[in-house]
Amino acid sequence: MRFERQAVLIELRSAVEATHPPLQHSSEVCIMVEIDDRSDLQRFLRSWVGNPLRVGAIAPSGVSLAQLITSEISEESGPVLELGAGTGVFTRALLARGVDERNLTIIEYGSDFARLLDFRFPKARVLWMDASQLAKYKLFEPAMVGAVVSGLPLLSMPPRKVIAILSGAFMYLQNNGAFYQFTYGPRCPVSRTILDRLGLKAVRIGRTVRNLPPAAVYRITRRRSFEWRRDASDLPPQAPKPS
Ligand SMILES: C[S@@+](CC[C@H](N)C(=O)[O-])C[C@H]1O[C@@H](n2cnc3c(N)ncnc32)[C@H](O)[C@@H]1O
Repeated sequence: MRFERQAVLIELRSAVEATHPPLQHSSEVCIMVEIDDRSDLQRFLRSWVGNPLRVGAIAPSGVSLAQLITSEISEESGPVLELGAGTGVFTRALLARGVDERNLTIIEYGSDFARLLDFRFPKARVLWMDASQLAKYKLFEPAMVGAVVSGLPLLSMPPRKVIAILSGAFMYLQNNGAFYQFTYGPRCPVSRTILDRLGLKAVRIGRTVRNLPPAAVYRITRRRSFEWRRDASDLPPQAPKPS
């Protein structure tokens, strides 16, 4: 077991150094990643070498981050949408929290990951598609989804794509539903400008150092004032008050 772990780490370090010399520091960091499944790590690494911007991490998230990002979700949340599921670390945590597999829709753009997810979670709906196309297809009735869990590398995406992903996800989210996003960065990976434009707010719900790199999770929800405005415009016009 120890030998296997060592072998994977050497493999990981060589691949990182060969393809991305400036990322040598990250390869050092990865030495301490807990390896649950050797084949998942290799799969992840292969995908990352093929498309580092799309994959956004050289190893799957750890259990601690998976528990944090799913901590406010339960079977009562109803349908859950997961974006960028990779090898399914967050998916497993969602099932452990009581979410019914049949209530899960998983969007993944990497074809190998999509195939793997379909095999691992046969009762879930796994869609091989770009999350920025969410609004183009009628995946749910409006306001049907209780929570969105995102493993997407938003920081490496252009603002227009981030806007498309969030608008698509919020089209399906219930009024009090939340979009959970993790980041390795020091602040929310969705800029203030984009949050303002979409009428959203972000709150950090926690951080874990038991993930390498350490990561934080943000809960993104609709601003109340925005809801008020929308609700008000839905009301029938009021009769003018007598002067
Ligand atoms: C940082 S990895 C996270 C994987 C997994 N959630 C985890 O934490 O281990 C990002 C994942 O998002 C997927 N992804 C990137 N861009 C995407 C897009 N536009 N639509 C759907 N999936 C995407 C990648 O293929 C990869 O599986």
